[in-house]
This record gives sequence, C-alpha cells and structure tokens, in this order.
Amino acid sequence: MSDLITELHGGILTLTLSRPDKKNALTNAMYGALADGLERAEAEAAIRVVVFQADGEIFSAGNDLGEFAQQSTGNGPAVRHVERFLKNLARASKPVMAAVQGKAVGVGTTMLLHCDYVLLAEDAELIAPFINLALVPEAGSSLLMPLRIGHVRAFEMFALGEPVVARDAHAWGLANRIVARDELRAETRRIAELLADKPAGALALAKGLLRNTDQVLEQMERESGIFSAQLRSAEAKEAFQAFAEKRKPDFSKLSAG
Ligand code: COA
Repeated sequence: MSDLITELHGGILTLTLSRPDKKNALTNAMYGALADGLERAEAEAAIRVVVFQADGEIFSAGNDLGEFAQQSTGNGPAVRHVERFLKNLARASKPVMAAVQGKAVGVGTTMLLHCDYVLLAEDAELIAPFINLALVPEAGSSLLMPLRIGHVRAFEMFALGEPVVARDAHAWGLANRIVARDELRAETRRIAELLADKPAGALALAKGLLRNTDQVLEQMERESGIFSAQLRSAEAKEAFQAFAEKRKPDFSKLSAG
C-alpha cells in the first residue's frame, strides 16, 4: 500500500500520511504524491477543500532522516519533490486544512503554517528541531512563524527544538481548535463540509487577500539555498549519523563556518 492515501468525497480531497511504522516520516515519494494531490486540487473544480491527516500514533516525524543523510553525501534522488510540494502548498488557492494528533515534527509543523484551518488533538505537540539537526527553518517558516507567534517564541521553538503542546499552540495562534483525539476526524470533516458549501470563488479570493504568497515564495527560495548548503555540512552529517546510531550528537568539535 502507498504511504500516502488520496481520497475524494463530497468535494473534499483528503491526503492521509500512512507510514505509521516510521512515524509518517516523509519520503521523496510521499512529497511527490502530496504535490500531485495539490495540483489535482487546483485543476479539478469539483474539489473545494484539501485536508491533510495521518494514520497512526503521530501526525509526522518530519522529513525522512535516512533520505537527508543520503542527500548530505550527494546521493539523493535525481528529482526532489519537496520543493514542488511546498510551492504548491504556498500557492494553493482552495482552503487547506490539517488534523494533527501526537507529534508533528519539522515539516510536519511548518506545513501547518500554510493551512487555513488546523485542528489539534489534545495530545498534539508541534516540534521544529531544525537547529538540533544543524539545519535551518524551511517551508517559509522563518517568515511565517515569527509573524504568527512573535520572534521570541519562534526563536525558542527553532533554537531549542522543544515540543509546543496543543494548549500553547492554540493560544499562540498556530491552530484553530483543540478536540478530543477520537473526535479529530469527524470534527475535521464537519468543518471541511462547511467550507465546501461556501461560494468557492469568494473563498479563494479571500484566501488570496489574506496570504502574501509572493513574499512567502521568495523567503522559501532564500531558505532553500541555505538549507541545501547546511545539509552537506559536517555538523548536519554528525546529526544524521547520531540519529541512525540512536545516540546524542556531539557538535563540540565542530565550529561555525
Ligand atoms: N526519518 C526516518 N525514520 C524515522 C524518523 C525520521 N524522521 N522518525 C522516526 N523514524 C523511524 C525510527 O528510525 C524507527 O525506525 P525503526 O523501528 O526501524 O528503528 C521508527 O520510525 C520509530 O521511531 P522511534 O524513534 O522508535 O519512535 P518514538 O515514538 O520513540 O519517537 C519521534 C518518535 C518522532 C519523537 C522520534 O522518532 C524522532 O525524534 N524522530 C526524528 C524526528 C526528526 O528529527 N525529524 C526531522 C525533522 S526536520
């Protein structure tokens, strides 16, 4: 079975991360399927709303760290789909929702900044451990996160990489509501149906006015250059190796620059 399940019912396109044995860590193939789903949503008038959700215990462990390790040594895939996914997400004209249970790590958190309606289960935790991995914030989050929650919280979230629990995420404006875990999908569906019934033209125009897409895409470009260079750094290699060896990374002998 595919690690990304795409379903369309009643004008709602649901993209379900389904790689629970690896905590829904996102592979290049999964980014490709997510990017395709967003392209389909733009192309088909019958699609009114897009929903991201995930099977299993947690929403997503973020980018697959094995694939990061391969990319850090120049052995990544010839075509990387992550940028297509993120650009499609930033440009999405239809409402995008997310239903998050458990941990949402890395891109699992930063993708939420592009969603228009985010529901968190009570056990949700948002984690942005880019600096712990010797990487930098991506997906436009270096712009969107401080805009949303302020510099001091954004800096702490990125620099310390500690979990932000659902209550704080909601209070800081990272999510619309918190629901019981067993009601997450039904409540998401209820809101998606409300959105699907609205006049699609007005909704898309309003979304366009609310989001500064050009500025976000420009910041993504800046982030992408720095991120790719940092991916190949000695400190990032140490971080990926430490994850593979299930140990704490040792950055003490590595200096900046
Ligand atoms: N990439 C690849 N594999 C991952 C992964 C990732 N990002 N996150 C988890 N996995 C794999 C583990 O290697 C493990 O595989 P194994 O069973 O073959 O050993 C499996 O998923 C279960 O992970 P485990 O760490 O045992 O689960 P946990 O419940 O104890 O912890 C997390 C879950 C998400 C907290 C932890 O896995 C984690 O911190 N992952 C890395 C998150 C990260 O840094 N992502 C990158 C962000 S940019």
